[in-house]
Amino acid sequence: MKNHLLTALVVSTTASFSGTAADYVSEILPIMKEHCWDCHSNETEVKGNVALDPDVLADQIGAYNVIRPGNPAESGFVERLKLDETHNDFMPRKGKPLPKREIEKIEAWIQAGAIIDAKKPTEDETKRMAEMKPAAPSAGAAGAEAGFQSWTNREGKVIEARLLGLEGDAAKLLLKNGKSYVVPLSSLSEESAKMARESAAP
Ligand code: HEC
Repeated sequence: MKNHLLTALVVSTTASFSGTAADYVSEILPIMKEHCWDCHSNETEVKGNVALDPDVLADQIGAYNVIRPGNPAESGFVERLKLDETHNDFMPRKGKPLPKREIEKIEAWIQAGAIIDAKKPTEDETKRMAEMKPAAPSAGAAGAEAGFQSWTNREGKVIEARLLGLEGDAAKLLLKNGKSYVVPLSSLSEESAKMARESAAP
């Protein structure tokens, strides 16, 4: 079925994502390099069959793997970080527990879909980004289901989409089918344009 709302609203399509989304490369990798690298990297050693290098991390991510997108509570990866440091399974082995803030960052990243590089998402990841709940919905997104909000254009047409960020004077919107679009703020209703500016503000 052709979606007339989209035809009216969407101006151009794009496959690339802005750097605003929290992803492994920007948020988690530095933590891994500090605490885990000696034992879990192709640059050093790979213990327990877990290499944390971004190019092979996908092996650890999946519904039955140690990193379960959208489900930090059942991710063995997180479970180990939260164990008592005397426990056999505690990670980092022979190290100090990660600061709570860093564990929370990791949980938030998994909750949001465990995306490795938001600038170059794989097809799978793009789908996951569309499905996952954002870790910390911004004030503008309060109450919105799974981070999706209703966007209205100048003609009063409405679509459901998640804001990925702003690109100059345009909003990057992610639709539930996993496609992302860049929509000039000038083509949105005043209220939607305001919502985009406020949600994207740091
Ligand atoms: C001093 C070495 C060392 C450090 C540092 C270390 N690990 Fe490990 N890790 C191991 C060893 C050895 C195993 C395999 C034995 C086991 O599963 O307990 C392992 C296993 C794992 C597994 C289990 C894989 C599975 O299939 O269940 C995960 C997940 C893991 N480590 C994550 C981490 C994380 C995250 C860090 C950093 C916060 C870290 N490790 C730091 C040595 C280390």
